[in-house]
Amino acid sequence: FAIHAPYIKAINALKKERNAVILGHNYMTPEIFHGVSDFVGDSLQLAMKASEVEADVIVQAGVHFMAETSKILSPDKIVLMPDMEAGCSLAESITAGGIDEMRAKYPGAPVVSYVNTTAEVKAASDICCTSSNAVQIVNAMDADTVIMTPDQYLAQNVANESHKDVVYWPGSCIVHEQYTAQDLRDFREWNPGTKLIAHPECTPDVVAEADFSGSTSGILKYVTDTRPEKAMLITECSMASNIADELPEVEFVGPCNMCPYMKKITLEKILYVLHTMDGQVEVDADVAEKARHSVQAMIDLSR
Ligand code: 13P
Ligand code: SF4
Repeated sequence: FAIHAPYIKAINALKKERNAVILGHNYMTPEIFHGVSDFVGDSLQLAMKASEVEADVIVQAGVHFMAETSKILSPDKIVLMPDMEAGCSLAESITAGGIDEMRAKYPGAPVVSYVNTTAEVKAASDICCTSSNAVQIVNAMDADTVIMTPDQYLAQNVANESHKDVVYWPGSCIVHEQYTAQDLRDFREWNPGTKLIAHPECTPDVVAEADFSGSTSGILKYVTDTRPEKAMLITECSMASNIADELPEVEFVGPCNMCPYMKKITLEKILYVLHTMDGQVEVDADVAEKARHSVQAMIDLSR
């Protein structure tokens, strides 16, 4: 951390001056995750924190849809995005028009949209979900057929655990879709005894091959509770780096995939936006009100 120390010190000092908090996603690099974040977690935990945190400014150390979610839930706070180009392949795969298309194809079916979507898509949906509550939310819908957007693999994984007929949009995460079931089988053969732990944005074949599947906080909980000797996290690279220190008895092995969007967030950019107050996220008031309804409905069902 020595090389990062001056940035960490400057950011933490400026946070106090601005009455700012930094919400850090589990995929941030360790110097952001451990060095400057006030709260860390998965998408659901960060959304909930954004709705209750006492601060004038939220810096979103994560991707753009997460900052929009924070702004939707805290319209009176300033929400800063260190890099506006930090997108997400899922959020970019669908527009509000796509939701209309799905509604026309499956009349009467409720639309559950992953939080990895733009504010417009959330506004056009009935409710949101994250990977940690998707099964619960889909099962709570008062209909036999449920539309899930935009992640086809999360939707298929949810369908395998739900009694609903789940229809879906063909979006995918460029990080998780790269893993194949054969990768996991090969890895198991080369490293017997390793626990394979996959995020539900992976394909159903990969999830079926894994020992456990869960959101990033679900992954942390599983490893913390079971303390396997060796674990391979089938997800973004920083996840293992961030939790390794607290779990010295677990050896994290195997390849990982980097999210190019998450990796756009750096200490330098966080310091820059806190200093200049550039990078303020705005959401149109009408869109925000409708989107808030979808996000709040999810939070209420998840408590
Ligand atoms: P989590 O909600 O599991 O943190 O997932 C967010 C994400 O972007 C995973 O790729
Ligand atoms: Fe989006 Fe995948 Fe990156 Fe998460 S890991 S932000 S789902 S592209």
